[in-house]
Amino acid sequence: MAASFSAATLERFAREVSKYPAEQKQSAVMACLSIIQQEQGWVSPEAERALAAYLGMAPIAVHEVTSFYNMYNQRPVGRYKLNVCTNLPCQLRDGAKTLAHLEQRLGISAGETTADGLFTLQQCECLGACADAPVMLVNDRTMCSFMTEDKVDQLIDGLKNAEASQ
Ligand code: FES
Repeated sequence: MAASFSAATLERFAREVSKYPAEQKQSAVMACLSIIQQEQGWVSPEAERALAAYLGMAPIAVHEVTSFYNMYNQRPVGRYKLNVCTNLPCQLRDGAKTLAHLEQRLGISAGETTADGLFTLQQCECLGACADAPVMLVNDRTMCSFMTEDKVDQLIDGLKNAEASQ
């Protein structure tokens, strides 16, 4: 099934495309992917293909961008996306332990979403904060440093409580 974008979405795309010379509209691909994700929660293969057609790009070129950057969701995710860095500096400072603790605490494996749709757990590449290892990122924006098991528990409890009080 082909994805079709709303008039409002196309307007947002056009605004991004207008920032570049006409022959370089492909430069807006990252911004357009972000718009799709904001509106749909993830970037489906259909949306990738539709964006490729819109920007005059090969679908594989759009997919290369989506799959390179961790911030783009290639499948639906939970309300809280937890990315745990498992690159070497974090691994040397208990990154694997942090991930294992989260898996045990949430009852899922990395790459999965909890049944209540609240948490998606993922491994990620270096977040550029190795000195704060082990490090994790919540919803692509909030960096959490020195994530010991206690701090992980506090984070999960805090997010669950915030959710329950809504
Ligand atoms: Fe984890 Fe750099 S290796 S933040």
